[in-house]
Amino acid sequence: MSKRVSVLFVCLGNICRSPTAEGVFRKLVERAELQEQIYIDSCGTSNWHIGKGPDPRSMEAAEKRGVDISTLKARQFTEKDLDTFDYVVVMDRQNLADVKDIWHQNGGTKPTLFLEFGSSGLAEVPDPYYGGEDGFEQVLDLIEEAGQGLLRSVQECVA
Ligand code: 4NP
Repeated sequence: MSKRVSVLFVCLGNICRSPTAEGVFRKLVERAELQEQIYIDSCGTSNWHIGKGPDPRSMEAAEKRGVDISTLKARQFTEKDLDTFDYVVVMDRQNLADVKDIWHQNGGTKPTLFLEFGSSGLAEVPDPYYGGEDGFEQVLDLIEEAGQGLLRSVQECVA
């Protein structure tokens, strides 16, 4: 019998990088026909955008690559996420520090940098919020590449 595995993507606002990662990864998982085994969600370390949809620039950039993130709604990370998710995958070092602070008190799943699953050589998915359109394309490039590595790791767990 195959196991169910859950994956949580975390960024600061949950309106740019982590919803993009959620949408891109869901597409990779569906292509591998693993949607029944892999549960995917995203959230932000801040409470700034709770209940809001993704940034229109992220939605547009994702849409151009065939990924629809328009129905997602931002929520804030909570300590309970460390008990319920098998993978807690963060976008940058600040997210890692913020989630690790909670992990040190709570225990549970240890957070990891998303790009450790890729081979770009970069450690962080840069925050595109205050930059130009190029930033959103780079976010997608990095997420698509690391997402494939993450899927390989998750596949070993569900097998
Ligand atoms: P995200 O990007 O963490 O990728 O969702 C940001 C979204 C909003 C803000 C910062 C980063 N903000 O300052 O409101």
